Amino acid sequence: MSEDGKPAPGVPTTDRVKGIFTRIAPAYDLFNILSSFGIDRLWRRSTVRLARVDDRSVVLDLAAGTGDLTMAFARLGKPASILSTDFVPEMLNVGERKAAAYDGPTKIEFEVADAQDLPFDDGRFDIATVAFGVRNLPDRSANFREVRRVLKPGGRYVILEFTRPPNPLVRWLYHRYLHAVIPALGGLLTGDRPSFQYLNDSIRAFPPQLALASELRAAGFTRVAWHNLTFGIVAVHIAEV
Ligand SMILES: C[S@@+](CC[C@H](N)C(=O)[O-])C[C@H]1O[C@@H](n2cnc3c(N)ncnc32)[C@H](O)[C@@H]1O
Repeated sequence: MSEDGKPAPGVPTTDRVKGIFTRIAPAYDLFNILSSFGIDRLWRRSTVRLARVDDRSVVLDLAAGTGDLTMAFARLGKPASILSTDFVPEMLNVGERKAAAYDGPTKIEFEVADAQDLPFDDGRFDIATVAFGVRNLPDRSANFREVRRVLKPGGRYVILEFTRPPNPLVRWLYHRYLHAVIPALGGLLTGDRPSFQYLNDSIRAFPPQLALASELRAAGFTRVAWHNLTFGIVAVHIAEV
């Protein structure tokens, strides 16, 4: 908390995060495409590839937002089923509209759920996945505990998240880009510049690759590994139960 009682820059609180995504839901997809030059699609594809699903896999997508990772799984990984969840219905509604046009083999369902307090039975899923959502959780350890609970033994948690480019020059350029472009572009598209200032700050406040891996191990996951993508601007962490 800062001195005025507001959460510090980049620090997620449930009210702050729900408010932001409820407000920006209609413009979220356009913002993603413009701010990442479309590379976010490649990152989700790599995440599906690294998740190694097959046609029997039962997948849970957490903080699924407008469903882009859900749909990438359905189109490319083709698991038996994927349950797309988020605690902001306005975001999930966009995903449901995308899934309506899908005619592949994967069963896609949607459910409002808080990633820190999952309304699912123990050992229900083979794979849990989250893209750009873990950064927004006030209590990551609650999420890790819940994910371990709902995964089957041997199940995997696959996390796509912004992280820390190892090369100092790339890191400097990337942080300049975040600072200059993200709040300005987000403000232009939605009129809500402060929400995008938070998103920018939250990327910089998030633990780097090794620290996140240590948190996952401390939470009881095994065989924790990560793969840097695009100079380490994002990484995919994979952790096993
Ligand atoms: C940056 S968006 C990512 C959406 C999507 N996964 C993607 O790849 O585009 C973050 C999402 O996390 C959701 N979220 C944040 N905290 C959450 C929580 N505790 N439980 C469920 N969803 C949450 C937000 O509502 C938002 O839709």
